[in-house]
Amino acid sequence: MENEFRYIETSIEDSIAHIRLNRPDVLNALNRSMVKEIITALQDFNVNEQVKVIVLSGKGRAFAAGADIDEMAEDTPITMELLDPFADWDEIYRIKKPIICAVHGYCLGGGFELALSADILIAAENTKFGFPEVKLGVMPGAGGTQLLTRLIGKNRALEWLWTGEMRDVTEAYQLGIVNRIVPKELLLEETLKFAQVISKQPPLSLRLIKEASSKAFDYTLHEGMQFERKNFYLLFATEDQKEGMKAFLEKRKPNFQGK
Ligand code: CAA
Repeated sequence: MENEFRYIETSIEDSIAHIRLNRPDVLNALNRSMVKEIITALQDFNVNEQVKVIVLSGKGRAFAAGADIDEMAEDTPITMELLDPFADWDEIYRIKKPIICAVHGYCLGGGFELALSADILIAAENTKFGFPEVKLGVMPGAGGTQLLTRLIGKNRALEWLWTGEMRDVTEAYQLGIVNRIVPKELLLEETLKFAQVISKQPPLSLRLIKEASSKAFDYTLHEGMQFERKNFYLLFATEDQKEGMKAFLEKRKPNFQGK
């Protein structure tokens, strides 16, 4: 696919779509146009039949150092309310395909929120994570307080959010934020390798698993289990279920068709 964006680059190869943040001069600071471009690309890939998995990464020396401070420095509560810039971010949670995020350098503020909105996080050894908003006299606004607290618990999240300090990748891994740590020079190679593995799985299973997992945040255990069950039953309408179980019984590898 040709790249038609100003602040990001996109491509599709072997059923993996790739979105690269491309404002390296300002460490991929996320201005509002860039966020809209990311969402447009995600939505396009979400309905593109060629695409099985979406990879997000950043060009230059950082994944993203947060929302663009220059752009919001003069905002007022009214300009914020009327523009409601963070409403766009809700769209990321409507993407049904797997999103794998590859981070390196700085992963701060809105950049960290973007990474936390992905499904799998692969981080280079040099990555620093943090929510520095408190040092700017504000706070995270694109989900940081909610996502971090759900992932690591209130007390540890508050310590991190209140101090605004950066933590290294080992700590992020120990806290369960990062799936894998890889050498910086192998970040994209390892991420794409992992994306390839996921892309070979039956897409409707991937999709309904993601949907059911996300309910664990919002539903009671009982509601979540009911939801999971319906998705499980629904997969028996797919050809991939027939093929997967037949292949098991015939002691051969399944040949999934994505239907
Ligand atoms: N917004 C705008 N510009 C930014 C930026 C940001 N978030 N982060 C970095 N930049 C710019 C710098 O202004 C600088 O531009 P110039 O070359 O024109 O001066 C360029 O990127 C390179 O940055 P530094 O020279 O500062 O690089 P460094 O290696 O010395 O420091 C850093 C790196 C520690 C990440 C530092 O840039 C920094 O602290 N950045 C701001 C981080 C931050 O506060 N993020 C939170 C933003 S608010 C938010 O994200 C709200 C939300 O919830 C969505």
